[in-house]
Formats: sequence, structure tokens, C-alpha cells
Amino acid sequence: MAAFISEELIKKVSERLDIVEVISQYIPLRKAGKSYKALCPFHEEKTPSFTVSSEKQLFHCFGCGIGGNVFNFLMKWENISFPEAVKLLGQKVGISISTPDKDKKRGMVKEELYQTNRKVAEIFRQELREKKSAQDYLKKRGFTQETIEKFGLGWAPSSNDFLKLVQKKEISLKDLKGLKLVVPSQRGEGRYSWFQLRLIFPIFNPEGRISGFGGRVLDESLPKYLNSSESLIFDKGRVLYGLNFSKEGIRKEEEIILVEGYTDVIALYEAGIENVVASMGTSLTFSQARLIKRYADRVFIAYDQDKAGVAATLRGIDLLLEADLRVKIISMPEGVDPAALVKKGGKDSFVERKEKAAPYFDYRLELAINTNPSLEYEDKIEIVNKIFPTLEKIRNSIRLAELIKKLSQRLDLDEEMLRIEFSKFRDKKKGFFSRPEFFKVKDAQQTTEKTLLQLMLSEERVIKMVEENESIDDFVNSSYKRVAEEAVALSKEGKVSSPLLINRLEEERLSSLISSLSLSSPPFQEEDKERIAFDLIKSLKRNKTRRRIEKLRKSIKESEEKGEEEELEKWLYELTRLKKQLC
Ligand code: UTP
Ligand code: MN
Repeated sequence: MAAFISEELIKKVSERLDIVEVISQYIPLRKAGKSYKALCPFHEEKTPSFTVSSEKQLFHCFGCGIGGNVFNFLMKWENISFPEAVKLLGQKVGISISTPDKDKKRGMVKEELYQTNRKVAEIFRQELREKKSAQDYLKKRGFTQETIEKFGLGWAPSSNDFLKLVQKKEISLKDLKGLKLVVPSQRGEGRYSWFQLRLIFPIFNPEGRISGFGGRVLDESLPKYLNSSESLIFDKGRVLYGLNFSKEGIRKEEEIILVEGYTDVIALYEAGIENVVASMGTSLTFSQARLIKRYADRVFIAYDQDKAGVAATLRGIDLLLEADLRVKIISMPEGVDPAALVKKGGKDSFVERKEKAAPYFDYRLELAINTNPSLEYEDKIEIVNKIFPTLEKIRNSIRLAELIKKLSQRLDLDEEMLRIEFSKFRDKKKGFFSRPEFFKVKDAQQTTEKTLLQLMLSEERVIKMVEENESIDDFVNSSYKRVAEEAVALSKEGKVSSPLLINRLEEERLSSLISSLSLSSPPFQEEDKERIAFDLIKSLKRNKTRRRIEKLRKSIKESEEKGEEEELEKWLYELTRLKKQLC
């Protein structure tokens, strides 16, 4: 295999890395006891179950079950292969590893896709020049020629025209399919173009290369926007529209304005507000929040405040706070988006509102109060329950105390009582999430194997015990067995460690299993480990004997039916022997 990197080299790279340091470059980690916690970047969650351990050099999400060592994290994050991850991290610590052929090829494929998008965008731009109605539409919306060019707007012609044009320009059909710009028709043989008769907004990555497109109809038909489907270079949840243009503005202002749509970005930009990005629709993702954090610490949400917009704002607040951003909300007249606002009232109308933006806590509180205008005692309790999850995200205790005070004043509730209730709320949650997932396994055999494996991973002495008692053969579950086997093999070489074990096994499922076992705390004391391991080893042996007895009983029955005297005697002898063992 071309992608082979020696274990020595892998070891050298990992020795110079600290998993906590590496992961914290991608997501904000918060210290929690001996390890670190964060919201899992690989699935949507509200309470952090993503754990990173410096001591063990592993990560694991107890929510979605993904885990492994530092290389696994990068593989997952960047969607790359193991050798690519080693190479990338190698670069960080000054160890250069020659690029395996496969990776070079993948890089080339991506490069080609970007080139193809560029060529397609050129076609769309050219088409716009010839499409009077689309130009009129843009004019009517107040977009200048300069803006149209800057944002690379275009027009997607009919499917037939598009297919002819790409053929004429000799654009690779394979790439077009890879980008889902050309898709097979649902019935029959043919294919058609994804974007038809739509105004096109190219979506750029932060470096300014086109990774996808959004397309808007000119009339009221639905869907209003169609976006590129996911491809090797496009993941809607991970890009922010406009970031390539606003990078500079953001740096200058040290803050970001977050809007919903393409046209908001363009209109604000045109009005002279240049630190704006769009989440492209109403659901901000955690990846986008993290991306924002890379560029600024303060963010202003300027979503349309209709029902969907309010829900999106609330969700956005939580995600942005989790990404450790300071959040304020710009109030918008209902049904008016930033684009409409500046079109009518110019830059100042927006800036005025921005200056009056509400800190997220006030926004959340007023919203809760407004939906419960009578403020009976019951209503207050309901409001408090809505606010607590937000308070829980506050790390700074002075700030927390301040907000609890504010809450008590605004609702006219006793401050001390609120403080006590809040601690109760927090403790209850903690109690829930610290329950070891370990108890979920129902099957007794599985539990025994799992616990023993967990002990093997935490105590090298237990690996030796397993080896001495030849317990590997007593494992039934093939995953547990493989990990146990490899642990014994590594221990013979004198170098057991979970991260190394993960590298050896080279399988995502097993990496996650190892990180899960290594990072969940077994429900017993340090000093009991060997004794418990011994019990588990014995129990596995007994289970194996029981399984053998079950089998023997069947054989005995068969032999009786067939009248095989000799066989029968042999089985009966073994059965007696095994039964004695069990006593
Ligand atoms: P809006 O409906 O607010 O669109 O959706 P807009 O950008 O303000 O467009 P105009 O000004 O009415 O022409 C906000 C964003 O949500 C995404 C798009 O990214 C859009 O810019 N969206 C919306 C979709 O992806 N699909 C849709 O069908 C609608
Ligand atoms: Mn809008």
C-alpha cells in the first residue's frame, strides 16, 4: 500500500502532540475535573458529552459514540485518511512525511472540482449578461453592477442550454456529476442540470474559491432557493456565506454581524457594512459558530424576527455561547430582514439598531416574559425554567451572580431562592450525564467482557492476567476479542497504550470502542481492579463452560436418538467433568 507510514514515525509525531492542545485549536474545551469537555462537533447536542483526556490522550463523545486518538479526531474533522492526518499533524510538530500517492490524488480531485465550479460560475455570469429579466430584477432590488460583479452573481439557463454550454466548453461531465451540478433524471436515461432558470449566488470558501452555489427563482415559486448538494468540496453547514469578502471588515471591527441570507449580506455590504456573514437559512450549525469564533469574539445576530427567525435566534444564541462568543441580538421589525431595512432606511437605520442591540440574556428573558404577560407565580416558574439552561452556559461566576440578580429583579423573585434553585438544576443535570454508559449493556456476558476489557485498558497488570489465564478464547464478542488480543500482543512488545492500540487496529468502530472504555469511569475503586479482574476472568471461564454444557446436552440427546453408545459415553463423561468444574 502506497499510504504506509512506519509505526516509529507515527509514534514520533504523537509524542510531540498533546490531544488537548490540538483539539482546542478546533473547538473550545472546558476543563471538567481531570478531563476537558465540549459540545460534540460531530453531532448536534445541547449538553456537552464530548470528552478529551490529556492523561490518556484520547477523546470520546458519550452522545454519539465517536472517539479515538488525536489522529482519529483529525480524520473525522477534516474528512481525511489516517496517513493524511499523520501528515498534517506531523507538519505541526515539524516532522515531514512524504505524501502518499492516494492523498495527492484526492487533493487533485478537489482542485479539479474547484476549477470546474469556477468555469461553471463563468458560464452563469455570461448568461446573466444576456438575461434581461434577471438584470432588471437585480436592478429593482437595488444591486449595482459593481456589486453584481463583486459577488459573482449569475443566471442558470435551462437544462438543455446548460448541458450544451458545458459540452462546448469541454467541462468534465464526471466533475459536474461529482458536484451534483448535473444529476441523473429520475425516470429514464437522461440527465439534467441542477440549477435551472435561477439567479445564481456563488458560495465561496474563506479563501475565495467557489465551493457551491445558491439559486433563487425570480418569482414566487418554490423552493425559493435551491442550493448545491453536498460534494467533496461543499458542506453547507460548514460555510458562512460572505466570509471571504468580510474577513477584512471583521478584523477591523473585531465583530461579526450574522444574517440569514445571501441578499442580506450583499445589501449590507453595499450599504457599507462590511463585517457581515450569513448562515444561509435559519439553522446555524455548531461548525459555523466555531468558524465565527476563528475570526471574532463578538457576534450580533440580525435575523428576521418572525416566528421561525426567533426560534433560529434562540438556537443560534446557544450555539454561539457554546463556541465561547459574546452575543447580542439586533431587534428587527417583524417580517423585515436586514436587506429590506437598509434598502429603505440606508446604513444608518441598521447601525442605529445595532447600537441598541440587546445582550442575549436580556433578549431571552424579555422574550420569555412577553410570551407570558400575566406573570402569575406559575408563569414565573416557567420562565425561570426556560432561562436556566442559558444560565448554565455562563462560565464566569461573577457574571452568573449578576444575571441571577437581574432575573430576580425582573421577575420579582427572591435572589437567594433563585440561586439555590439554580444549583439544584445544575446538579441534577450533572447527575444524569455522569451515569456510566457502561450500564446500558444488558447482556451479562457482554458486560463481563466489556468490563474486563475496560480494566485491561486501564491496568497493564490485568492484560498479563488475561494472558496467563488464556482468557482471550473466552471472549465471545468479536470486537472485544480483537481489542483484547491486540492489547496482549502490544503488552508482549512492552508498549501498551490506548492511542497506540487504536493505530494498530485501524478501524473507526474499534477506535470509538477503545476511547469509550478508556474514558468512562468504571464503577469501582483503583485498589479493587485486580480482584475484580480476577472475578471477571473466572466468570468468563464459567460462562464458556456453560456454553459447552449446553452444546453437550444437545449432542447427548442426538446420540441417544441415534443409539450411538460410544459417543454417548464420551459426552456423558465430559459433562460430569464440566459440571464438577462449575461447582
Ligand atoms: P430568505 O427567505 O430570508 O431569503 O432566506 P433572502 O436571502 O432574504 O432572499 P430575498 O431577499 O427574499 O430574495 C434566507 C436564506 O435561507 C436560505 C438561503 O440561504 C437564504 O438566503 N434558504 C431560504 C434556502 O436555502 N432555501 C429556501 O428555500 C429559502
Ligand atoms: Mn430574508
